[in-house]
Amino acid sequence: MQQQALPRHIAVIMDGNGRWAKMRGLPRTDGHKQGAEVFRKICRYAADIGVEYLSFYAFSTENWKRSAQEVDAIMDLLRHYLNEMEEREQENEEGGYRIRFLGAREGMPPDIAHLMDEVEERSKDKTRMFVNLCVNYGGRAEIVHAARALAEQVQRGELSPADITEQSVSDLLYTAGQPDPDLVIRPSGEYRLSNFLIWQSAYAEFYYDNVLWPDFTPADFDRAIEAYRNRDRRFGNAK
Ligand code: FPP
Repeated sequence: MQQQALPRHIAVIMDGNGRWAKMRGLPRTDGHKQGAEVFRKICRYAADIGVEYLSFYAFSTENWKRSAQEVDAIMDLLRHYLNEMEEREQENEEGGYRIRFLGAREGMPPDIAHLMDEVEERSKDKTRMFVNLCVNYGGRAEIVHAARALAEQVQRGELSPADITEQSVSDLLYTAGQPDPDLVIRPSGEYRLSNFLIWQSAYAEFYYDNVLWPDFTPADFDRAIEAYRNRDRRFGNAK
């Protein structure tokens, strides 16, 4: 069997931050802080090896159920990261990331929603790598959002139901215009998709790893890619 090419789009579920902190007797928020550092490191590494699209699950629509203290700490990290991006513009120039935030802006703290808009706008002509950060994101909610938009088009008489295709749904998702993930990586020993890019990952290869996200290294990333390259992707075709 021929090896697969490097995946164009890799999606990562950053999991295990809480356990990482607990094992060290630290507050859960320290795990998230370390997780955000690893996020940065993996972005740099992926861009270096030529990955074109990298998506991360940072905060799901269900994560609001966590304690107010933990939610606030994750929001603070995000705020810090967004503010710092401006300062790191130089570095980001080198990285050349085009950043998109996937998820509902409604419900986010307004200052963060505003920063997200700014970062997207400022990075929109960068071409080295696309980085999707899923925040206040839920895969089912994303599909519902697309369904509503299609229903409105039908209601306005602009679209016939018979003309709705998979492509018309894809075009209304947050990832519109991007290729679907080829590989989804979930560290920390969990074997779930947890409502992450569920439409887009229909034919993705999954890779699970026991390492906790704050301990995840470029070598772990390479192992996931190596496993992917040895998979036989058939997309429903016969062997
Ligand atoms: C899952 O680990 C992780 C999260 C819910 C939050 C991830 C957020 C970050 C890494 C920070 C985001 C900020 C930037 C700038 C990317 P968990 O808490 O569920 O871990 P556990 O399963 O061990 O409890």
